[in-house]
Amino acid sequence: MENRDTLPRDAQSILELAARSMFELFANASEGMMLVDRTARVVWINDQYKRFLPALGFDREEDFVGHPVSRVVQNTQMHQVLETGKPILIDLLTNRAGTFVVSRIPLRDAAGQVIGALGIVLFDHAETTLQPLIEKFSLLQRDLDEARRELATQRLRQTGQRQSKYTFASFIGLSPAAVEVKRQARRAAQSSSPVLLLGETGTGKELLAHAIHAASNRVAGPFISVNIAAVPDTLLEAEFFGFVPGAFTGADRKGREGKFRLAHGGTLFLDEIGDMPLALQSKLLRALQEGEIEPLGSNTLIPFDVRVIAATSRDLTRLVRDGGFREDLFYRLNVLPIRVPPLRERRADIAALLEALGEDVALRSGMPPPELSIDALALLEAQPWRGNIRELRNVLEQAAMRSDSTRIEVQQLEAVLRESGARSLTAVLPVGVEVAVPDPGAALLRPLAVQVAELERKAIHAALTAHKGNKAAAAKMLGMARATLYARL
Ligand SMILES: Nc1ncnc2c1ncn2[C@@H]1O[C@H](COP(=O)(O)OP(=O)(O)OP(=O)(O)O)[C@@H](O)[C@H]1O
Ligand SMILES: [Mg+2]
Repeated sequence: MENRDTLPRDAQSILELAARSMFELFANASEGMMLVDRTARVVWINDQYKRFLPALGFDREEDFVGHPVSRVVQNTQMHQVLETGKPILIDLLTNRAGTFVVSRIPLRDAAGQVIGALGIVLFDHAETTLQPLIEKFSLLQRDLDEARRELATQRLRQTGQRQSKYTFASFIGLSPAAVEVKRQARRAAQSSSPVLLLGETGTGKELLAHAIHAASNRVAGPFISVNIAAVPDTLLEAEFFGFVPGAFTGADRKGREGKFRLAHGGTLFLDEIGDMPLALQSKLLRALQEGEIEPLGSNTLIPFDVRVIAATSRDLTRLVRDGGFREDLFYRLNVLPIRVPPLRERRADIAALLEALGEDVALRSGMPPPELSIDALALLEAQPWRGNIRELRNVLEQAAMRSDSTRIEVQQLEAVLRESGARSLTAVLPVGVEVAVPDPGAALLRPLAVQVAELERKAIHAALTAHKGNKAAAAKMLGMARATLYARL
């Protein structure tokens, strides 16, 4: 083709015709075709290709076309073709939709510049058409995966890191709201884009973050979490990016790897992202954009390959509006937002949750699991549960401790609820459930520690309300360290 300009005119048009009919031939004879532009974004797929979308996890064409190919097709090699300008004429591609024989061809403009690439699925169900070859291939692949996993576990053991402790099975709930949140999270697990978990305290954000990691193809990699609210502002940067020996006074003489580096090849969970100081937000944004970090005190950039899951119980959009959170960082993290519903929006799950929590409580206490009377269950189902599942668990645990038998009655629950926070029950109680009016004198007869704890809880709550949930400001007002406040929460 190099000497195309020197060809006679009719030869040139024959060549163009040939190119066009080749394209049509492939378009019809192949199982599907896709075009990406020079930035590796999918710009077109043909009708045959559309059949694969559901298997790749997409219901709508617009969720696929227009997006970076690496985000929508797992294990794609299209960028390699764009980078090298060389075709990959025959290759096997395995992803969640199956194993395919594919061909990838760079497209050049008249000046010879690569302007995109064409991907052709020559056979689908390669599993059956190329059975013997594939068998060998997948055997090798499995061995490789196993070896990688083994290595990763060994490394984790050595470095004392923990892998995810929950899977989707740990997330109890069959209510529509619970099913929906699990569906979204499962879907997010298939992609490598950032996930943003939004929900009140105790709704299961951390649990879901673990589950997403465990269901993703990074499962063999580490799951590393940083609780931003629990780390003092001044230490956060070192926590994220690490530091070299002697980077600052008081620094470890050995230097330390940051969480970004530790999470390399796995998932980094940024918990309480809404509490991140503004100065660090810009640095985080830069790191996410560049895919590189610069440890404190060093001049070298270190690349990382990390999937980010962020979570917050704060109203991030409002924080952005009020200038407390960078808008550009918000959009960077908000690629796959998942709203985790509060317990009061899925009361139907309370019974099942109590059962699971009860078994867990029993396991720890060595006693048989608690049993709730029907009234007791109704009372629990009627609570506002501002602390969500964590609060539900505490109440159950305390009621079980109070009860002499395994059975928990309304009276014991009322007592626990009364002490665990002064909230109005009547507003949410269904008809037929009666609650005794708390005896004001009873408060004075309780142990001092309980009363002090209650006072503390109220003060924290008031401070948080006064500062619209901003933990840093609340801690300041109360004259306590943010980490202490967090521990109390
Ligand atoms: N759907 C669920 N099924 C079973 N247990 C759950 C569920 N959701 C949450 N839990 C349990 O409730 C507790 C709180 O959950 P988790 O720590 O994930 O909440 P969170 O949203 O991260 O809260 P916070 O904002 O306070 O950090 C954990 O012990 C968790 O195992
Ligand atoms: Mg959490």
